[in-house]
Amino acid sequence: MMIQAQATITIAESRSLQGEITPPGDKSISHRAAILNSIASGRATISNFAPGGDCLATISCLRALGVPIRRTGPGGRPTVSIHGNGADGLREATDVLDARDSATAMRLLWGLLAGRPFLTIITGDASLRSRPMDRLIDPLRLMGADISGRAGDSRAPLVIKGRPLTGVEFDLPVPSAQIKSALLLAGLFASGGTVLRQPSPSRDHTERLLKLMGAKLEDEANLVSLRPLSGHLSPASLRVPGDISSAAYFLVAGAVHDNARIVIRDCGVNPTRTGIIDVLRAMGARLEILNRRVEAGEPLADIVVESSDLKGVEIGGELIPRLVDELPVLAVAACYARGRTVIRNATELRVKESDRIATVSTELTRLGAVVEPLPDGMEIHGGRRLSGTEVSSHLDHRLAMSLGVAALIAKGKTTIKHATVARVSYPSFWQHMGQLSS
Ligand code: S3P
Repeated sequence: MMIQAQATITIAESRSLQGEITPPGDKSISHRAAILNSIASGRATISNFAPGGDCLATISCLRALGVPIRRTGPGGRPTVSIHGNGADGLREATDVLDARDSATAMRLLWGLLAGRPFLTIITGDASLRSRPMDRLIDPLRLMGADISGRAGDSRAPLVIKGRPLTGVEFDLPVPSAQIKSALLLAGLFASGGTVLRQPSPSRDHTERLLKLMGAKLEDEANLVSLRPLSGHLSPASLRVPGDISSAAYFLVAGAVHDNARIVIRDCGVNPTRTGIIDVLRAMGARLEILNRRVEAGEPLADIVVESSDLKGVEIGGELIPRLVDELPVLAVAACYARGRTVIRNATELRVKESDRIATVSTELTRLGAVVEPLPDGMEIHGGRRLSGTEVSSHLDHRLAMSLGVAALIAKGKTTIKHATVARVSYPSFWQHMGQLSS
């Protein structure tokens, strides 16, 4: 089915999609489990840790800050053992920290380090260095942080001179789990409580893990309050649930392909992340959730998806933070749905790994889709078959995988340039796709 030449992959339309996959460990939970266990007191073992480049960047940064971390097990499903020595166990790094492509790594580390008594410089790759950081710098400065960049520029690389912080009451201008989590990390060691209000709920993995580890945190709907840590965080050993943002590619592939049945095992179904399931169901997808359970405070389940007859829907408002990373692949679903799909209130897409409103519209249009970019989303007129051609991932992992799904159903062959960038979040993606298709 696939011919691979360096970073380019060619995919022929597939006759059927059948079988089972277990997605890699959740990226958001893995970042948080690594960071919070690094400042807990004692040893924790995290299995099914996210294998992609993003979470490995977090591990390298934490090691550079003096945290003993051992990685064992198979590359696709690593186990990470961390020996935390409390926040005082962190040491000034001898060199600049590199968050690579990961905004979550960079932002959470700024929150963690703003109150530590040493100097840190964090940079990232070209895409991360172009992303806005003022949305985090402003509230951190309100807490007393000393954080600065090049003259007139609030993008990475940035320098933090750690100093004592004070808790704040802050209204987040955008619903962002990264900003919320960074401020909670800073608030743990500030004097006085931290109260955050969000315009709508965003993923709550930090809150769940902090509670599990003994922090005094209360959250309901749009409000989170945290008291500074008195004593220490208890280490949390856990098995990370499968990443629903990775499963999303096969949820859509199964629903739009006309000869498909895919079982997705051990997938996280935290309600702050399941917008993709709600939207696919509203589009008419045949999708079943089985074997629901909770492990280490996080819900997970098995999901079965089958060939479906989809119709267009409107996606916007409070749903957006619950499926923000899944919008590129939902745009592919919309191409195959009858009628019109409109995505609104998703300006955040413009500041992800690529400007996803521009890149998704351009590349799907190349495949013959009717997609109109809007300032805050996209309008897609579905129901016509796509045709294979040459497309590009724009070095954006989520676009690479979304185009892979489109290619499975498009007529003929599709060549995706820079497709191997998928390894940022899902190193075995192309292999899983090959296993399911025939
Ligand atoms: C993430 C939050 C989201 C998401 C990103 C991971 C997290 O970003 O797009 O891939 O782990 O907190 P924002 O919180 O900035 O929307």
